[in-house]
Formats: sequence, C-alpha cells, structure tokens
Amino acid sequence: MQKILFKNIDVPDARSLDTYKSRGGYAALKKALSLPPEKLISMVEESGLRGRGGAGFPAGIKWKFLPKDRNRTIYLICNADEGEPGTFKDRHIMEFDPHLLIEGMTITAYAIGAHHGFIYIRGEYNWIAKLLMSAIIEAVTEGFVGYNILNSGFSFYIDVFRGAGSYVCGEETALMESIEGKAGRPRLKPPFPATFGLYGESTVIHNVSTLSCVPFIIEKGPEAFSKIGKPRSHGTKLFGISGHVNKPGLYEYPMGTPLRKLIYEAAGGVRGGKRLKAVIPGGLSSPILTADEIDVEMDFDSLLSIGSMLGSGGIIVMDEDTSIPMIAQKTAKFFAHESCGQCTPCREGTNMIKFLIDRIIAGKGGHTDLEQILRLCRYIKGSTICAFGAAAAMPLNAMIKKFRGEFEALVR
Ligand SMILES: Cc1cc2nc3c(=O)[nH]c(=O)nc-3n(C[C@H](O)[C@H](O)[C@H](O)COP(=O)(O)O)c2cc1C
Repeated sequence: MQKILFKNIDVPDARSLDTYKSRGGYAALKKALSLPPEKLISMVEESGLRGRGGAGFPAGIKWKFLPKDRNRTIYLICNADEGEPGTFKDRHIMEFDPHLLIEGMTITAYAIGAHHGFIYIRGEYNWIAKLLMSAIIEAVTEGFVGYNILNSGFSFYIDVFRGAGSYVCGEETALMESIEGKAGRPRLKPPFPATFGLYGESTVIHNVSTLSCVPFIIEKGPEAFSKIGKPRSHGTKLFGISGHVNKPGLYEYPMGTPLRKLIYEAAGGVRGGKRLKAVIPGGLSSPILTADEIDVEMDFDSLLSIGSMLGSGGIIVMDEDTSIPMIAQKTAKFFAHESCGQCTPCREGTNMIKFLIDRIIAGKGGHTDLEQILRLCRYIKGSTICAFGAAAAMPLNAMIKKFRGEFEALVR
C-alpha cells in the first residue's frame, strides 16, 4: 500500500495518542487553531476535496452552505455507518488510526463553528466504538478535544452513537432521524442538513475518510492535496479490494489509478490464475463492470462516463466461475431486506425483483420476468425520497444488461 494521507494505518500501536503524536499527529490542529475559520474553509475548497461517502460532493462548498450567523447551533456528524457491502475503509481508519479522524473532526468543527459532534458508527462495529471512545478520552485528557482546546477558546465535544445495523441509516437524513431516537427513515429534501439537520439545527455530515483527509490539507496546504490524483478528483482514495484476488486488503492509491493496476498490482491478480469475469468497482450499489472495462481510471468522472460510479471504493472482484445471476440474487435479497419501506416503489419494487430473481434461479422463470425486472428498475430509480431506490436498481439493471446470456440460459 502506498502511504500518502493514511500513513499510520499499518503502524503497530498507531491508535495510541503517543504514537500518533510522535508521527506528527495533531500538528495540523495546532496550525488550524492559529488561522481564522474562513481561511480553513477556503483551504479545503481550494484543495478540491470531494466527499468519500459516495456522492462526491465538494466538502468546501458544503461548509459554505451553512448560515453565516455564527451564534447558531451547528452540528458536525461523522458518518461511520459503512453499510455498503464490500466496503471496509472507514473501519480501518477508526480501528487503527482513530486520532486521524478525531483530528479531522476537530479541525472541521473549528472551521464551521460546531461545538458538538457525533460519530454515528454501525452497530456491528461494537469494538471499534469502544476504541473510539477511549481515543476521544485520551484526546480530551491532552486538550485536543473538549473545553478550550489547546487554550484557543474553542470547545468541541464528540459523542459516539451506535446504529442498529440498518443500511439506510447511512443515508444522511435517516442517520439524523436515528440519532434523534426515531425510526431511521430518510427525510424529504429540501430542506438540506445545512439549514435543517440534526434536531432541526444546521448540520454538516461527512464520511470518515473525507474528514480524515482534512489534517493533511491543513498541514501540507491545499496544493499538496490537489496535485495528487486527477482534475476534479483530487487526493488519494482508500480502495478495499475483496473477492477472488490473491491479496485482498485495503490500498491507498491516487484518484484516477486504473482499476487494472489495483487488481493486478495491489491485490496480486485473480486467485488461482483464473480469468477475470466481472468487477463491482465501488460497493454493491455501483453498477458491475465486465473484464473488458477494467482499464477505467478510478475517479468520479471516469466511472460515471462508463455508466458506473466510484461510490465507496469497495472493489469486489469475481473470477470466471462466478454466476452473475447468483450475485444478482444476493443483491436483490439485500436491497429488499434493507428497504425502509417508506416509499412504495422501493418497498414493493425491491421485493418484487427479489421474487422474480428467486423464480428465475429456481428454474421457474419466464422471458418476461427479465423484462419485468428491468422495467421495475427503471420505475424505482428516481421515484423515491432517497437514493436507496437508485442504489438498488442500478446494479441489478447492469448485471442483467451486461450478462444477459447467463440469465436467459436459466429461463430457457
Ligand atoms: C442508502 C444510502 C446509504 C448510504 N450509506 C452511507 C454510509 O454507510 N456511509 C457514508 O459515508 N455515506 C453513506 N451514504 C451517503 C450519505 O447520505 C452522505 O452523502 C455522506 O455521508 C456525505 O459524506 P461525504 O460528503 O463525506 O461524502 C449513503 C447514502 C444512501 C442513499
């Protein structure tokens, strides 16, 4: 793994504050506190940092959406729900380098004027939630978090909030509902969280790895970040590579690195010398690629241009023995189970698709079933309150369109 922004992840005991500090940790926070908040916002804007949670929205612009009135309550939320199948980057940051996230959150809080932050962590990461709480206590003890941070007059408190294992609670407004103690159902937008977020107050919400880029940008300067990667996709990205590869794991590479290089150089190629069949490039909700498409560069625009998306950067590699209809069946089961049920097209559509794919796999399907699934995918996408509907429809649509022969063989 290259080590550019995430230099501590595989360092022994990097999670302790002493190790983190000995490797330059919290220097960025000291620098940040000596600068006016507006300067930090413009530095992050200039760096071109885009959200790593999936949508790739520019962080500096998100911060600028906040109302200018500095006396308002502003919350900062770190989205550590990491529910996207095939994704394990946030977990590594929090487990092995928790102070990087805490430092990134504290700098961000100072820049946007938040005094209270939450880390919303998926329920299954119970032991990591405990690690985070210990790291926060360490940081408070040394004055990096809490009251009057490093005698700057700025105070910021962080709470760790455990979710209960719902995928849709990774969606930012469902997540806020969940913190408020309600059922995790997405809200209609607008209003957006910048004006009406947690408890109705202005809120900025970012993925773990977005916030973890902030110390580098502040310490080394925005150009140091923007010169890595590609135009419109600056910096590095943590790619979690799993599936049929020789060396599954988490790898940091500049944005725009070809997928082929990640599979064959970082992850050591396809296991057992088999042929590559397909790749899911950015977590389960990103449309599948065929083996012919792996020269694509892994950045926001390049993946969009071939009808997929960078998403979470969770790369799932499948060899020649993989049955795509079986992958589609698992995908359909996951989304039918995780739909929150609020929007009819999503609630009914995901369950109907699951029913049809199960029927096809059982050898009882007909040709019209495939058309019916594609039609349902079209109806679900864009007709729901949140992007869950699209997240469910797009991968299934791509699996059927790109590997149609395999599905047809089952209905013949
Ligand atoms: C169904 C659904 C699930 C999501 N799950 C996550 C998640 O687990 N983690 C995450 O960071 N963002 C997730 N998102 C995206 C968030 O809504 C939001 O865009 C993100 O937290 C913003 O952070 P960023 O600006 O750092 O990308 C999800 C979105 C949807 C529609």
